[in-house]
Amino acid sequence: MTLLELADVTASYGPVRVLEGVSLSVPDGGAVGILGANGAGKTTTLRAICGTVRADGRITFDGRDLRGLRPDQVAALGIAHVPEGRGTLGRLSVLDNLRVGAYLRKDRKAVSADVEYCLDLFPQLRARLSSSAAALSGGEQQMLAVARAFLARPRLLLLDEASLGLAPGTAKTVYEAIGRLRRESGIAMLVVEQNANLAFTLVDTAVVLETGRTVLTGTAAELKGMDEIRRAYLGG
Ligand SMILES: Nc1ncnc2c1ncn2[C@@H]1O[C@H](COP(=O)(O)OP(=O)(O)O)[C@@H](O)[C@H]1O
Ligand SMILES: [Mg+2]
Repeated sequence: MTLLELADVTASYGPVRVLEGVSLSVPDGGAVGILGANGAGKTTTLRAICGTVRADGRITFDGRDLRGLRPDQVAALGIAHVPEGRGTLGRLSVLDNLRVGAYLRKDRKAVSADVEYCLDLFPQLRARLSSSAAALSGGEQQMLAVARAFLARPRLLLLDEASLGLAPGTAKTVYEAIGRLRRESGIAMLVVEQNANLAFTLVDTAVVLETGRTVLTGTAAELKGMDEIRRAYLGG
């Protein structure tokens, strides 16, 4: 079943149109990558889904039209966003950041179990529970941002460049944990990533954006086999 569907989505900042026709679909429980150069419109695509930029075209989640909804309404439907730059609350402790992620939930016992699960998934966070988020390393902040989004128990996780600014080993650790989260939770994922090698460890299919348009869609294996993808995104 299709969980999220974008068809011919356009979006603008003021008079400047930056999405010209983005189409993609994420199956329930599936993981889809968005690849593309800087400025291609990857972040704006996630914003169009979240309702933080006005968009036209078709955007449906579980059959429901998302256009015109406020960001909090989109979140309440089960879409959690890990934005570019992570968006953790620097002055709050790690534990409080996790609690903020679960603020809409009433099942306190299940929330505690999910906090424990996140600390098992990201053991580095356990030792830092009472530290302020601002005091964490970049990798730890990224882990916290993913854990916080998971604590909302979304059906779909939007990840924006989770590897940005991280050392290669740390980026790999973060992606391995996200892969485990995907296998164990079945949460669907839409994964924006400039590092296609990492993205392909997580996603089943991907789309390529160029200047606000979807120009290619394929399975990870198909895309990895294409010369133009290898040259542009895989370092050879
Ligand atoms: N808040 C904004 N106001 C105006 N233009 C923006 C804004 N954010 C992004 N843009 C422009 O929109 C285009 C797409 O940006 P973005 O979606 O951030 O691309 P990507 O995430 O693929 O790097 C770029 O040309 C960028 O300069
Ligand atoms: Mg971006």
